[in-house]
Amino acid sequence: TAGIVVAIDGPSGSGKSSAARGAARRLGLRYLDTGAMYRAITWWMMRAGTPVDDADEVAARSGEPDLRVGTDPDLPTITVDGMDVSGPIRSREVTNAVSAVSAVPAIRQRLVAMQRELIGDGGIVVEGRDIGTTVAPDATVKVYLTAHEQERARRRAAEGLGGAKAEVTLTQQELAVRDRLDSTRTTSPLNQAADAIVLDTTELNLNQVIERICALADERA
Ligand code: C5P
Repeated sequence: TAGIVVAIDGPSGSGKSSAARGAARRLGLRYLDTGAMYRAITWWMMRAGTPVDDADEVAARSGEPDLRVGTDPDLPTITVDGMDVSGPIRSREVTNAVSAVSAVPAIRQRLVAMQRELIGDGGIVVEGRDIGTTVAPDATVKVYLTAHEQERARRRAAEGLGGAKAEVTLTQQELAVRDRLDSTRTTSPLNQAADAIVLDTTELNLNQVIERICALADERA
């Protein structure tokens, strides 16, 4: 599997992160979570007092944060200006602000270039929104993960909030807003690549999803 690139795209809560990381471990490949990179930049912008809805201001400061990303699937690391941000980038504040920041072309330009560098000669599973379409259009395997909206909201809520019913509703609204923003932005929106294999995970457990991805990778390796 040397040189292989497995691209995994899909909307929020489709189970991308657990599936991509699990597949990378099982296949002995590196792992890159591109969403974490957009989240880390968003965290930095908020901390620096940059209004995230001001695209010009965000663009003007896009080169400032010193972002470093590790690709070990057993221990994915992400730091900004030397600080480990793997915890804070999962906060609700960052989650609800990230779509505005990730829609700014200067941000995407910088992060896509970094992602291509990290992919290098391959041997990696990469997850995001635009991997199969923009970051790695020549990827060996392209998987587009989906799940029914309610199930995606339930999974997200269960991750952080114990799955309480009121929270499921709120998260479902937030998820819908984020997906709409991610799908309608001008620069590389969330989009299914023409040659992507669609995998609906609504009725599948994590292990079944990982197995499907590994089988596809083995087939094409
Ligand atoms: O995957 P995750 O939910 O962590 O992604 C956070 C946000 O980062 C997405 O809602 C989207 O706005 C942005 N993103 C992106 N392109 C990617 C990965 C993530 O625009 N390849």
